[in-house]
Amino acid sequence: MDKKRFYITTPIYYPSDKLHIGHTYCTVATDAMARYKRLTGYEVLFLTGTDEHGQKIEDKAKEAGVTPKEFVDGIVEGPKGVKDLWKLMNISNDRFIRTTDDYHVSAIQKIFKKMYEKGDIYKGKYVGKYCKPCESFWTESQLVDGKCPDCGRDVQDAEEEAYFFKLSKYADRIQHLLEDTDFLEPRSRVNEMVNNFIKPGLEDLCVSRTSFTWGVPVDFDPGHVVYVWVDALFNYTTALGLFNDKYHDYEKFWPADVHFVGKEIVRFHSIIWPAMLMSMEMPLPKKVFGHGWLLLDGGKMSKSKGNVVDPYILAEMFGVDALRFFLLRTFPFGSDGNFSNEALIQTINVDLANDLGNLLSRTVSMVGKYFGGTLPEDQSENGEMDREMVELISSLRARYEEQMEHYAFQNALAEIFKVIGRANKYIDENAPWVLAKDMEANGPRLARVMYNLLEVLRVSGILLTPFIPGSAGKVLDQIGACQECRTWDSAAVYGSLRRDVTVQRGENLFPRVDTEKALAQLEAAAEAARKSALPDLEIEPQLEAKVDFDTFCKSDFRAVKVKACENVKKSEKLLKFTLDDGTGTDRQILSGIAKWYKPEDLVGKTLMAIVNLPPRKMMGLESNGMLISAVHTEKGAEVLNLLMLDDKIPAGAKMC
Ligand code: MSP
Repeated sequence: MDKKRFYITTPIYYPSDKLHIGHTYCTVATDAMARYKRLTGYEVLFLTGTDEHGQKIEDKAKEAGVTPKEFVDGIVEGPKGVKDLWKLMNISNDRFIRTTDDYHVSAIQKIFKKMYEKGDIYKGKYVGKYCKPCESFWTESQLVDGKCPDCGRDVQDAEEEAYFFKLSKYADRIQHLLEDTDFLEPRSRVNEMVNNFIKPGLEDLCVSRTSFTWGVPVDFDPGHVVYVWVDALFNYTTALGLFNDKYHDYEKFWPADVHFVGKEIVRFHSIIWPAMLMSMEMPLPKKVFGHGWLLLDGGKMSKSKGNVVDPYILAEMFGVDALRFFLLRTFPFGSDGNFSNEALIQTINVDLANDLGNLLSRTVSMVGKYFGGTLPEDQSENGEMDREMVELISSLRARYEEQMEHYAFQNALAEIFKVIGRANKYIDENAPWVLAKDMEANGPRLARVMYNLLEVLRVSGILLTPFIPGSAGKVLDQIGACQECRTWDSAAVYGSLRRDVTVQRGENLFPRVDTEKALAQLEAAAEAARKSALPDLEIEPQLEAKVDFDTFCKSDFRAVKVKACENVKKSEKLLKFTLDDGTGTDRQILSGIAKWYKPEDLVGKTLMAIVNLPPRKMMGLESNGMLISAVHTEKGAEVLNLLMLDDKIPAGAKMC
């Protein structure tokens, strides 16, 4: 018989910067779920990946002086990049999709065309506000005090030809999906979606852009690129093989069992995504779960605020499993949680070092001390004292399962730790050190006390595997658990461990953290990271020699508008500009900036030039003046920025 199947996904991450602990949180949760399902006997497909198109990435690449593909390659595949981070965090994804992968790009083109041919995508006009310096379109409601929300500058009325998706057509079906099924969880997110987006009226969605090029081109209308969310959402299906030959699992795994997504992208996953699937006449995913954010000091972590938490630093200091455990033990998955180093250290010390670590090391060392490492088969129970312990052990799996099936990781872990806490108390109640004083009389009783403790550790070890796969395996090794008594089935059966089990004393798996020392180290590491994140700036030394004021005033700086610009043949450096300098006669200037600018990006821009320099010849062409730019060295590479003026300034305006 075919195995039961489970398909689970993370969002695909923007590789615009290195990922931080917030992204790690979502991927670790997805990994725990995937591992849990595998443990319970499912054939699992776990997908993650990166969302690599869009204006932001294009801009970032430009800033870095590389192509967008080079830029994303560095962040995804490079050292300490996305793939490295998931390897470090012991993430068990079966597949990794990059939206720049060819198979995905051509599938997206087919999908876009299909919705167009169906009449669900149509060509229209995007009417809104445009911020020229940012090259961004905004709706009236997105403006802040009537200005561009990104840069605060004035915006102008604008129109752009664009394709639209008939989202409005699916409004009723989406409302029903959200309100009358358990498609979206937690339930609180349903009200948010319905009240904020559906009730006010769903508008058609603009699904193409012409203002930038880094995206999937609309193949039947070059110049348009597919809106990045359409490109991104369908990753969940192209990675299975939809409209491509790279994979062949679409029939087997679609629809997804659950998409885990952060709360700010629930709208895309619970409204836009199902509407597009309805348009494509494809089955809908069974569930979207919108988890909360990890906050820092009550606010969102962001690179621009300079307050991101680096998972590499934490994993190196405390270990990967401690970090994984902390993320899922401390915060309820559906709500926001406040990250702090103090909370991390406390969770490690209380749960891992004190409760689990102590139970393990005490038990294993007592079995060593009293029985030479192997329990005797002759054991005697004490009905009264053992009943509760045995009952807790054999019912733990069911309580854990109930929570896991609802993605309540924190509660599932709480169930395990209740039993671990109880077991530590059971040691004190049974006082093995007193029993050991008379081994002849009490040996069998002492053996059974030890056996029960080992059983707690065995069941806990199995159930902890999805959360702390490395250390849970080591717990099971130390208590001498055989392969058959590490299975999901055996986790519901008290007494699976053989009576005469032999334990293997090993390393201390969960050492206690010295809070003060660790906090100081973390502060030092964060400081070092802040410093190394600063660009390694070198600015040309200022000249000592003075220019007299009158001589300087003879320089004639003017605003010039670029009418045309092209590369100079056979020169790698030079661009040839045809400029309007306000005189009515075109001015030609040559400038050695081809390394930094593409000619087509400069046409129409207003620049600054000195126009009264004597003519110079370069590559046989005459240059009448010089364009002004700023130059510095950053991390060893020369960076240059042309001085760009506001477009409102007329050509020929004199600069003073
Ligand atoms: N590329 C889109 C997703 C497309 S899915 C078809 C995107 N990328 S993202 O990199 O900005 O965010 C990816 C995920 O990381 C989101 O689910 C987001 O909620 C999550 N997180 C980013 N910062 C986070 C926290 N501080 N805390 C928890 N999750 C956070 O959106």
